[in-house]
Amino acid sequence: MNSIRPYTGADEAALLALWAAALPLDALDTAAFRRRVLLDPNVGPESLLVAESDGQPRGFVLAIRRREPFGDLGLQPEQAWITAFGVDPAHQRQGLGRALFDAAEGQLAAAGVRRVAVAPYIPGYFVPGVDEAAYPAALAFLAGRGYEVVQRPVALDANLVTFDYGPYLERGARLAAEGLFVEPLAADWLPAFLRFAETDLPHDWLRDARDLLAHAPLETFTIARDGARVIGYCQHRGEHFGPFGVSEGYRARGVGKVLLATCLRAMRTRGLHNAWVLWTSDETAERVYGPLGFRETRRFAVLRREL
Ligand SMILES: CC(C)(COP(=O)(O)OP(=O)(O)OC[C@H]1O[C@@H](n2cnc3c(N)ncnc32)[C@H](O)[C@@H]1OP(=O)(O)O)[C@@H](O)C(=O)NCCC(=O)NCCS
Repeated sequence: MNSIRPYTGADEAALLALWAAALPLDALDTAAFRRRVLLDPNVGPESLLVAESDGQPRGFVLAIRRREPFGDLGLQPEQAWITAFGVDPAHQRQGLGRALFDAAEGQLAAAGVRRVAVAPYIPGYFVPGVDEAAYPAALAFLAGRGYEVVQRPVALDANLVTFDYGPYLERGARLAAEGLFVEPLAADWLPAFLRFAETDLPHDWLRDARDLLAHAPLETFTIARDGARVIGYCQHRGEHFGPFGVSEGYRARGVGKVLLATCLRAMRTRGLHNAWVLWTSDETAERVYGPLGFRETRRFAVLRREL
């Protein structure tokens, strides 16, 4: 007998085992699961559904809509995100995935949702979408349900240990001659940085920057400034590099590469051996990250469907 029901606290161990079996590259430990799923203010009792057969959890889907307004975007009442789903490999092709999605999408439609995206939920996505190489069954399953691929971002990784940043940092001297300075964020420039973040960055990047600045040293940020005006930045959180942005009027002058090289070298001085980026375009991967040693490790399909 199959049934679909909301997650309960007693499911945790079985659900995490199921998650690891269905999504081996994206398994979570209990701390991450509680923090990133159960404690997410947008996750309500109806967001995480479990498929049972023979009294055992065999599948799950996490479908989120906003319960808290998100900056200028508010509640986005017509939008929802499916950020993770899976069926135990031993119980696939028995209709559990279909039953889970029928229930989740039905619930969302009844709540007024018109569009569902897999999986770019800001701020809490695990990965941008379905990993094309790791999870081809999910792509076939979603295509069958009318989901369309709208973007194919890549994740990149770089080893920092032996990379020669010299040539990229020399460009920094050339930029300085033009009045553009790339340097670690220091107290003197914090107000100017916050002004830049308010005017030039998407709401989520501003929120993310504020959050990080409240907890991490200023120098985990690298800024670019034109005199007293901040015109670009990047940040790192441990080995995770990004976000990374340059104001529109200053692009294509090499500022981005110098920001990246300056930050990667600083990361190495902090004992880090690697850097990774979870979401970028082919163009940026090739033009900016590739020359600094980054290589593609995963490619994701971001999918959408109108309900
Ligand atoms: C995607 C997934 C959840 C499907 O679960 P499932 O219970 O096997 O799906 P269903 O049995 O309900 O399949 C419904 C339809 O989807 C399609 N489908 C499912 N798996 C497929 C596969 N491996 N190849 C081709 N089509 C497939 C078929 O049309 C199927 O209908 P059919 O069996 O009558 O032909 C499952 O393959 C899975 O857990 N994959 C790993 C997890 C994952 O990749 N998640 C996405 C990451 S965000």
